[in-house]
Amino acid sequence: MPLVKVRELVPGQVIATDVKNMHGQVILPVDTVVNQRCCSILKAWGIVSVAIHGETRENKTEGTVGQPAPPSATVEIVGDESHPALAELRALAARLAKAPSVEPGPQFPPAPGRTGGAPVSAQTVAQRAGTLASLPTIYFHVEKAINHPTSSAVDIAKVLGNDQALSARLLRIANSAFYGFPRRVEGVAEAVRIIGTRQLHDLVLATVVLTRFKGVDPRLVSMSSFWRHSLACGIAARMFATMRRETNTERFFVAGLLHDVGSLVLYQQFPDRAIQALTRHREGHIPLEEAERAVIGCDHGQVGEALMSLWKLPELYGEVAAHHHSPGPRGHTAGTATIHLADLLVMALGLGSNGEATLPRFSVEAWDLLGLPAGSLERTAEEVLALIGEAQRLFLGEEET
Ligand SMILES: [Fe+2]
Ligand SMILES: [Fe+2]
Repeated sequence: MPLVKVRELVPGQVIATDVKNMHGQVILPVDTVVNQRCCSILKAWGIVSVAIHGETRENKTEGTVGQPAPPSATVEIVGDESHPALAELRALAARLAKAPSVEPGPQFPPAPGRTGGAPVSAQTVAQRAGTLASLPTIYFHVEKAINHPTSSAVDIAKVLGNDQALSARLLRIANSAFYGFPRRVEGVAEAVRIIGTRQLHDLVLATVVLTRFKGVDPRLVSMSSFWRHSLACGIAARMFATMRRETNTERFFVAGLLHDVGSLVLYQQFPDRAIQALTRHREGHIPLEEAERAVIGCDHGQVGEALMSLWKLPELYGEVAAHHHSPGPRGHTAGTATIHLADLLVMALGLGSNGEATLPRFSVEAWDLLGLPAGSLERTAEEVLALIGEAQRLFLGEEET
């Protein structure tokens, strides 16, 4: 039973063992006859090679009894093998990972052989996004009201009242398990008082950002899967921040929600080059951000940072977007470490994707910096799984998956 590279598979060959994804789930069972769709699935999951029977379906012979099983073809959570948190992450993924809620990954035709186009800077990409990715006026009005020194909760509620849909959504969120307030919040002014103006600002931001990105080619990313990943990352980040006794834990939720938003801008503006970058990432097994820099000239983290700066958002959000994959020149900060770990956890749990087919490498530096209490990964995983359906319903209007 030879191991064959996925790119060298030939239609008609027969897979000799269950092929599992990074979560240990079988994506192609033993005895699957290889066809074009199988190859797409394998590539989408970042599988490099699979064991096949020596012959094609037409003349395949059995007779493998007694032979040792070939190595299983899986993708892994990688990092310092001796670190206990890595083992805990793997165990959680094996026990709690949900079946992928969407197709195994974006499906697109083979990318052209050449990259095409001059390198583009992240600032240019963000500026070109223009109205496509601009925040709605209501956000700036609310921000102005919140920052005004004499504004009361009633004043802020009045501004919010100009957007009935937004006010209604905020009230639904305030009254959901997502916040878990012990009693019913009756009006927007009361929500402002209870939630707090800073947190309310961040919540408004989260709510409006989700409505801004329409028209992304579904071959590149499923929007449902993208926001599921982002919301799950936000919930995990908020939980880590709570356990670390951070003030205003809501900003960690928003930081998680926004960490990959640069991907959407790239997908909107450079769909062809984005396809090439995703293909290089999957087939060449290099990190997505590296492939994006090679093909486009900048990566989704840099574009996210430029966009946050254009939106004049707090520094935390830009910093997290830029460095959630690898730390900046001065190492991880509490923000980047929190989102790095949240991103890794939710990917290990199989909760959506921004198009990345492999997990970021576990950073011991980020783990040590956070100093999380024992059992924090498991508690956070359970929190995310308990709230993700509710979050999708509240923020996206989707039913639980
Ligand atoms: Fe990312
Ligand atoms: Fe991510």
